Amino acid sequence: MSEPFTCPCDVPLYRLISLEIEEKLRRSAAAYTDRFPHVSTIPQEGLNYTPEENNLWTNAFFPGMMLLAYDRTGDENFLKYTGCYLDSFENRLKKRIHISHDLGFLYTLTGVALYKLTGNVRAKAMALRAAGMLAERYNEKGRYIQAWGEFGVGNPYVKIIVDTMLNLPLLFWAGETTGEKRYTEIAVAHAHTCADYLVRDDYTSFHTYLMDPATGKAVEGRTHQGFHDDSTWARGQAWVVTGFALAYRYTKEPRFLEVSKKAAEVFIQNLPADNVPYWDFSFNDRVPDLRDSSAGSIFACGMLELADQCEVEETERFRAVACAVVRGLYDHYFLHNPDRSGILTDGIYHRVHGPTCTVWGDYFFYEALIRLQKDWKHFW
Ligand code: GLY
Repeated sequence: MSEPFTCPCDVPLYRLISLEIEEKLRRSAAAYTDRFPHVSTIPQEGLNYTPEENNLWTNAFFPGMMLLAYDRTGDENFLKYTGCYLDSFENRLKKRIHISHDLGFLYTLTGVALYKLTGNVRAKAMALRAAGMLAERYNEKGRYIQAWGEFGVGNPYVKIIVDTMLNLPLLFWAGETTGEKRYTEIAVAHAHTCADYLVRDDYTSFHTYLMDPATGKAVEGRTHQGFHDDSTWARGQAWVVTGFALAYRYTKEPRFLEVSKKAAEVFIQNLPADNVPYWDFSFNDRVPDLRDSSAGSIFACGMLELADQCEVEETERFRAVACAVVRGLYDHYFLHNPDRSGILTDGIYHRVHGPTCTVWGDYFFYEALIRLQKDWKHFW
């Protein structure tokens, strides 16, 4: 941990990094119109993405980066493939291809973001349809959104997971846009259930929790991508910080702000000297393992979201933490080579696969840079 965080907010540097990212986007845009980047599969040789079918939770991050680029630059070339994205993502809904709680990630960064930036009514209709399908995954008795698998079908249990916090903004947006209270009620209820079970008393987090779909009862915490059931998976903790800050933005519910801030303190306490987190908080500079640059990117956005919600004194500290993390990511894990489509190295999807570039780590790094440069048109 390098508190106090004194890293300056270096806007000219953020602009230069953004220009490098935009050059990569320009070079790769034509390759990703209905198949999209996910993780780089051969880290030592490649550091390049390959186009993957639109059936993953990550498919919207590349279109999301193109929209960030349009928002930052005003260059309409970044909108050139939006019709292709809409075709691909509408088709996914129509055919119900891999439908899970991740509808939020997928349709916020394609439908909601495009609608907010350009007023595209097709994007709005698509996002509302996705929100309706996400709401269908709500278990009334347990007051939770089921993460994976066929709704209500357990083995014998189903799971809630911390990642879902980033899927709630689609419901909050749908509630505001349609005036239908049910969307907001579901999102609020799920966030409380997440705070009750997935967030521990010390504000660390379980990755997942088993729930009984018949009774709605919570059973026990488990990990899926972390080191072990009782550890704190860094990316999960970043989803908690960012997701509760976003839930607070929409609701002004004090509990959500408190969870986000206290989970952020846990994250800060676990930052190593270079401010880029290890993939699980079981590891540190004395007991090192691999980093997860993507957890750092998400956390930086969470700190900037929190900074937007807090009093001046806290705002300055939260922005300084975000700047320090962004600087750590840039100094140690940024891929300058324009021929490589990956942007940040050393992300972790599943630990067993080793370090890779991850499209979500790239997305949140770029979002953080843009939040630091301008009054951002919020996508979430
Ligand atoms: N939402 C899945 C992950 O963070 O790996």
